[in-house]
This record gives sequence, C-alpha cells and structure tokens, in this order.
Amino acid sequence: MSNPILALRAVNKSFGPIDVLHDITLEVKAGEVLCLLGDNGAGKSTLIKIMSGVHQPSSGVIEIDGVACPLPSPRAASEQGIATVHQFGGTFPLMSIGRSFFVGVEPTKGWGPFKVYDRRRANAIAVKAVQEFGITRIDDGDRLVGGLSGGERQSLAIARAVHFGARVLILDEPTAALGVKQATHVLRIVNEAKRRGLAVVFITHQVMHAMAVGDHFAVLIRGAVAADFKKGEKTREEITDLMAGGASMASLEAEIESQMAQA
Ligand SMILES: Nc1ncnc2c1ncn2[C@@H]1O[C@H](COP(=O)(O)OP(=O)(O)O)[C@@H](O)[C@H]1O
Ligand SMILES: [Mg+2]
Repeated sequence: MSNPILALRAVNKSFGPIDVLHDITLEVKAGEVLCLLGDNGAGKSTLIKIMSGVHQPSSGVIEIDGVACPLPSPRAASEQGIATVHQFGGTFPLMSIGRSFFVGVEPTKGWGPFKVYDRRRANAIAVKAVQEFGITRIDDGDRLVGGLSGGERQSLAIARAVHFGARVLILDEPTAALGVKQATHVLRIVNEAKRRGLAVVFITHQVMHAMAVGDHFAVLIRGAVAADFKKGEKTREEITDLMAGGASMASLEAEIESQMAQA
C-alpha cells in the first residue's frame, strides 16, 4: 500500500455566494489512475484547478506526501511535480515539436551573449521522449505541432510533463474530442505514465474510457463526491447510472442502442 502523493481533505470551494465544491476528500497514489467522473457542471474543472494551484480552497486542506501544503499558484503546484494537461494538449500549433517541448526551458549551446537555442539537441531529446512513450510516428522534431493529430498532441504534452519530472499528471477530458483510435492511443499513454509510477488524475464523462484505465473512481454530482470505488466494484451500467444521478441512464442507453441496431 503506497501513501498518497496528493490528497484533498474536506475541501470546500465557493465563488462568492455560489458553493461549487462540498467537502471533497480524495487521494491520489503513485502508480494509480484516479478517474474523476461527472456530468457537465459537476465541478470537475474547479476541483482540478484546486489541485493545480489555480484556485484556492475556501476551506479544507491539500496534502502532498502526507504533509499539509497549500498551492498558492500554478507555479507552486508545478514545483511540487503536479502537471496539468488540457484538452487540446495546450501546445502552440505554429511551433515545432522540439520548440514546444522545451518552451520556457530551451537547451542552449555557446555562452553568454553567444548563447543560442540548440535546435538539434532540443529536437533529439523531444523525439526520444515521445518515442519512449510508444509514439514512434513522431520522428522529426522540426515538424509543426499543428500538423499532429489530437491524440499525438495530447501524447506530446504528457511525454513533456513526464520528462520534466511530473509526479502527478492531471488530464482534463483528454479523450473528449477524439475519435476511437486516437482515444485508444491516449489511453495507452495514460497506462504508460502509470506504469512509470506517476499518479494520474483522469477527468472524463466517458465511462468506457474511465474503465479502460482507472484503478480508482470518484463520481462528482453537484460538487460532492457521490460515490468513491475501486476497479471491479461496479459495472459500466452502475457507473453510468451514478453519473446520471440515479436516473436509469443505462436502460435508456440500451434502448437507444437496440433502436439504432434495428434502424
Ligand atoms: N469562477 C467561477 N465563478 C462562479 N461560478 C463558477 C466559477 N467557476 C465555475 N463555476 C461554477 O461551478 C460549477 C462547476 O463548474 P466546473 O467546475 O467547470 O464543472 P465541470 O468541469 O464538471 O463541467 C458550475 O455551475 C459553474 O458555473
Ligand atoms: Mg470542465
């Protein structure tokens, strides 16, 4: 049993009079994927903004390695090894793969005023890091990020976070805008990050994607943890119903599927 890298203890968040998160307690462990499930507006983004230093809890405690550790800024979170990858990979379409990998931390050659961006080295390191994640199709660091598929961009952003020492990887709906093949690709990368011992927080409203990678699940409804369970403890139908707040979504889905099969 490993100890949690990141934990939230009784976290509440209000924006003025609006209570968005209620009494959230969650733990994220090394080598584990925690799936955060919930419908639109459930508070998922607000919760990960608290984990990544963008928002401060109104009350409650954030712990890192078992010690209370406020995260007053995104930089503070990043210094603790917490990396967030947003839906579109957060990269710049007109930058090369090598450039975008090192944006802000460019390797240089030469000295003092003669220091220049070392393109070859940046490209070599970026391509190697990405290929180590199994994305062998990326072999030229000069290619523009804009020419990559959505899944490849996500993968590049994840490989980058891992390369620079992330311990906690937060992925906000990484598969939401992707087709089946691309999504599978990203799910493979998530498994690889987990295999390397990272703690992954995977936000999604797609139950199948969650079930493909999750070790632990938390369902958020109207800002509260409505259910918290481990892999294998609930079926796909039960999870879908939970997300719909108890309404029998699974039976509705089955009905729609059978109607479509007949059409
Ligand atoms: N800065 C804010 N000020 C006021 N209300 C907010 C703010 N950010 C989010 N909310 C509200 O919090 C609720 C949860 O939003 P969000 O965390 O984005 O949900 P999700 O990511 O699950 O769709 C929504 O009702 C939203 O309107
Ligand atoms: Mg959101």
